[in-house]
Amino acid sequence: MTRACTAIAHPNIALVKYWGKRDRPLNLPSTSSVSVTLGGFRTRTTVTWGVAQDGVRIDGRTATGPVADRVRRFLDRVDPKRPPCRVESESDFPVAAGLASSSSAFAALAVAAARVAGLDLDPGALSALARQGSGSACRSIHGGFVHWQRGAAPDGSDSRAVPILPAGAWDLRIVAAVVDAGPKAIGSTEGMERSRLTSPCYPAFVRENERLASWAARCVETRDLLGLVDAMERSTLLMQATMTTAVPPVRYVRPDSLAVVDAVEGLRAQGLTCGWTMDAGPNVKVLCTASEADRVAGILGPLVSAVHVLTPGGPAVVESETALSG
Ligand code: PMV
Repeated sequence: MTRACTAIAHPNIALVKYWGKRDRPLNLPSTSSVSVTLGGFRTRTTVTWGVAQDGVRIDGRTATGPVADRVRRFLDRVDPKRPPCRVESESDFPVAAGLASSSSAFAALAVAAARVAGLDLDPGALSALARQGSGSACRSIHGGFVHWQRGAAPDGSDSRAVPILPAGAWDLRIVAAVVDAGPKAIGSTEGMERSRLTSPCYPAFVRENERLASWAARCVETRDLLGLVDAMERSTLLMQATMTTAVPPVRYVRPDSLAVVDAVEGLRAQGLTCGWTMDAGPNVKVLCTASEADRVAGILGPLVSAVHVLTPGGPAVVESETALSG
């Protein structure tokens, strides 16, 4: 029987970072992390189960090599005895530019593939499945504010994301300041692995970041934006300390990124409740109140190539499913 399912997922931005794996094949993290799922940006993925041969298309182009292999390996995890499948995925935002495209890509793929494979997985199990495609994808299964608990089980069964607050429960904005929408030179897996293996700062990151993740989750529960922003910036700086002291160094930050950071800190000095973060790319994401977002975007706009004002978004969902033949 040929079946198709289309799922939609939104990318998420780490407020407290995932940076380093304790188990590489299973994508088990060294530390817990906290994120917000973004509305506005999304990935839509269709998996057709039971076709003549495997095929992967991403944003209208046939994917080959390591990108297609990664998708095929993920489908093998969903069902080791699977038939050939076709995967078609489209994202409406720049991929591989530190805007967390792999998070929405593997969350949408996990939801669509599990459904066509006939697996009845609850959100926790879907999160653990999505994690195996891309670590951060486990957080995009849920909407709003999310805590990925690192877990302790060697098989990764307890390393999954749990929701803290749904999207509508805290009216914040994420202003994405796009310094460069092009693909990054060093992928996040390589960047975090090099940091883990070679940076003398890595143990300090692990120790502090675990504490910051618990603290940030508490700040979300109590809607303490200043506390959350403080945890977010500390986690970002600790992650960057491991990158910049890796051998050879991993550097994503550009002069324009730092100009945005300066501007955000200037706005905070004027009394705005906002803070910045970056991931594996030069783009800066600013967390702020809904009422201050236009002012933040207006100040940052002239410094960068584009700004997007985003709201917290919802969970990954099935959009449609069809039985095509059989
Ligand atoms: O999920 P990955 O393998 O693309 O790693 C994401 C790493 C960061 O975006 C830098 C941090 C995070 O927690 O999302």
